[in-house]
Amino acid sequence: MAKLTIRDLPAEKISGKRALVRVDFNVPLDEHRHVTDDTRIRAALPTLDYLLERGARVVLLSHLGRPKGKPEQKYSLEPVSRRLSQLMPSRKVLFVESTDTDDAMKATNQLKDGEVLLLENTRFLGGEETNDERLARALAELGDFYVNDAFGSAHRAHASTEGVARHLKPAVAGLLMEKELAYLHGALETPKKPFVAILGGSKISGKIDVIEALLPKVDALLVGGAMACTFYKAMGLETGKSLVEPERVEMAEELIEKAGTILILPHDAVVAPSIEAGGKAKTVGRENIPADMAMLDIGPRTAESYSRAILSAKTVLWNGPMGVFETPPFDKGTRAIADAMAEATSKGATTIVGGGDSAAAVEQAGLASKMSHVSTGGGASLEFLEGKTLPGVAILDEK
Ligand code: 3PG
Repeated sequence: MAKLTIRDLPAEKISGKRALVRVDFNVPLDEHRHVTDDTRIRAALPTLDYLLERGARVVLLSHLGRPKGKPEQKYSLEPVSRRLSQLMPSRKVLFVESTDTDDAMKATNQLKDGEVLLLENTRFLGGEETNDERLARALAELGDFYVNDAFGSAHRAHASTEGVARHLKPAVAGLLMEKELAYLHGALETPKKPFVAILGGSKISGKIDVIEALLPKVDALLVGGAMACTFYKAMGLETGKSLVEPERVEMAEELIEKAGTILILPHDAVVAPSIEAGGKAKTVGRENIPADMAMLDIGPRTAESYSRAILSAKTVLWNGPMGVFETPPFDKGTRAIADAMAEATSKGATTIVGGGDSAAAVEQAGLASKMSHVSTGGGASLEFLEGKTLPGVAILDEK
């Protein structure tokens, strides 16, 4: 069912009203507490601009990190409010340090049309993660309508993502949420064929449900990253010092059987004694992984054939790096996938990068703008691809 979005709200429901907007400003900070990647903040700007241009008073809720229900300075959103001000130079951006909902209430009532107020980390509040009813009701008092633009947190049934939307109506999706859902839903339900998925990362345990959900929909499912080694083990191959999940080997065997020719594993691998020993890296066929080495990237033959598969597709979905992309020379496989996806986009394919590490890799390669869509949600996009209901979406008003 399609959800109402801010574009469905009549002007008089926005102008002069307090829009309570849940965003996902869970961004990385360095040791000086500066935001090192503001992608998620920038991704929320279209929604904020839309509301502000229509005279709303915007009240923002977000979490940052995983504090356990009480204030912790290192998780304060204050550095995020500074970055947000820089990104919105023509707007007044205020920040409320207090976690007392009465103080927050006062601040929202003093807010003027076209102003922005960021409240302190929702996870400093005891009832946030337990989706406490009283907290949800208190949060609902902070706005005149609710907007969820935090796709990255939509898989969490927390007071600020789910509970609040039970008590504050209308409860609608923001523009980022709408875009995320449109791309991911489109890929799953109406993909232009051929549809190729690439899955990587270190463990298959977190990806089994995605593999199961995608197998009936894709024309090819290309596997990379250390998770390939659990499949190798299931094939009876030597995996050396590679990361293998012994308790998943049986499941990998079943998946290979079930998937037939759709599931494709790397033919060659870049191996080394350790991540630190990049100088000793070499390429071997998958049957020849030495006992004293680990697979740390897909090999060049695999990168080439995966790139060809990507270029022949009309829809491409990628989640998880092909190797230890943060550490050269183990970044080449991941980079090759990013390059092939950028080229596929320019040839008219729809290319979608799931959040988390693959999104970081695409950013690092400077190719984010060359993809049709780079998701801001790591866990959320995985759960969506698994076919799970996202509580933060389910609770929003239907069209
Ligand atoms: C994320 O970074 O994936 C989201 O912000 C959710 O964060 P969480 O896993 O701490 O709930």
